[in-house]
Amino acid sequence: MRELKGKTAAVTGAASGLGRAMALAFAGEGMNVALADLSDLSEVRRLVEEKGVHAAISKVDVSRAEEVQKFCDSLKDVHLVCNNAGVAVSGAAWENSVDDWRWILGVNLWGVIHGVRSFAPRLIAQDEGHIVNTASVAGLISPPASGAYNVTKHAVVTLSESLYHDLRERNSRVGVSVLCPAYVPTGISDSERNRPAEHKKGEFSKETLAKQAMLKKAVASGRLSADDVARAVLAAVKEERFYILTHPKIKGAIRARMEDILEERAPRDPLKPL
Ligand SMILES: NC(=O)c1ccc[n+]([C@@H]2O[C@H](COP(=O)([O-])OP(=O)(O)OC[C@H]3O[C@@H](n4cnc5c(N)ncnc54)[C@H](O)[C@@H]3O)[C@@H](O)[C@H]2O)c1
Repeated sequence: MRELKGKTAAVTGAASGLGRAMALAFAGEGMNVALADLSDLSEVRRLVEEKGVHAAISKVDVSRAEEVQKFCDSLKDVHLVCNNAGVAVSGAAWENSVDDWRWILGVNLWGVIHGVRSFAPRLIAQDEGHIVNTASVAGLISPPASGAYNVTKHAVVTLSESLYHDLRERNSRVGVSVLCPAYVPTGISDSERNRPAEHKKGEFSKETLAKQAMLKKAVASGRLSADDVARAVLAAVKEERFYILTHPKIKGAIRARMEDILEERAPRDPLKPL
């Protein structure tokens, strides 16, 4: 979608991190922005409006189909949709509680499914628009101690690829991108702030607690900023590019995974030097 000015972008998870940065980047291009989040959006609204465009805010829990549909129905115009809200839970698969699994699948996977189900028919009907789904490099490789997170992100990658094929088969002009960043300093390692009270946390081993501390440090020291990632998203939307791999160094680990599959070898740890 080359011409963005005057059109509307809808962004979930817009109160913080990548969503906030995308909202501001789109506003900088002259787009009006519809911001959705569970958290307070008043500061982001102010920053978007300072760029001379309109901002609308909606309190939306993306894991709830009816709330995402209501958000979609509330917009007079929409061309760019970023299904971005997400949370992180780490731990070995057996350590995560059923609630951990329900919570992360609800936000990271169902949130994107609801976004696609609500917005895609609208974009298809107007035969113009672009959907950006936020996955992660964890959707292309499987780092240890993050099984639940990896499951959601691999699912978002395949959902996006399938969506792309289904749109092409129908000769639709609606574009799709899947965003797969590595570590970016945002609020993601502090996701517990968003955990609903009814979802009880798993009990973690020493090994998992050590990994969680390591992961937190890795996120905090990520070299690219959320603004850098937002600029990459903007470029991909304009160029109608599907995969957005913001951290090219990770391609070695993706290649190693693909080779292990093709050679039918046991998977190598993608976080260890090859
Ligand atoms: N930061 C990274 O290193 C990184 C890397 C790869 C992918 N990602 C992905 O980027 C996306 C954005 O995360 P971030 O890094 O900006 O983290 P963040 O915590 O800064 O932002 C996430 C936003 O999502 C919102 N949110 C959480 N649950 C929600 C729900 N149920 N409904 C609506 N909003 C909800 C939060 O309130 C927050 O504003 C996530 O999907 C994350 O998995 C992040």
